[in-house]
Amino acid sequence: MASNDPEMLVTWDDEYRFGLPEIDKQHEFLFGLMNRIWSAMNRQADQQEVLALVGELETYTVTHFSDEERYMRETHYPRFDDHKKAHDAFVVRLAKEKQAILGGHPLSDAMMTFLKDWLISHILVLDRDYAAHAGHHLPSTEVFAESFYIG
Ligand code: FEO
Repeated sequence: MASNDPEMLVTWDDEYRFGLPEIDKQHEFLFGLMNRIWSAMNRQADQQEVLALVGELETYTVTHFSDEERYMRETHYPRFDDHKKAHDAFVVRLAKEKQAILGGHPLSDAMMTFLKDWLISHILVLDRDYAAHAGHHLPSTEVFAESFYIG
């Protein structure tokens, strides 16, 4: 969820766990990384530090998405193609933001809001849906997932 602590953008909560240890660990790491980027923005860190953090986010998400996509294939997740499109769109957006930073633009508040909202809604709705499909005793989010994919 979004954090009330101004030092943190998002707060990890156990409700985000699916019972998939590697995926859960990766999601928790992404929350931490998001907070490190937020902290760098707030103290107006230099471009090199912000770039390094955004680069770390880029690398980590590619690995995370790849792991998830392998899991979805293995479990024959029926909405795999749409989920992969959501991953791909995130990677493209992040690459554009990195280019903007390289061009001398600071990381924008709009981008941080996008990252926060994307991360939380993606994990709580779309990722949870593939975990539920694989039998992880989670409430199905199929109805929500369908509307997210359409949007
Ligand atoms: Fe955890 Fe689909 O990203």
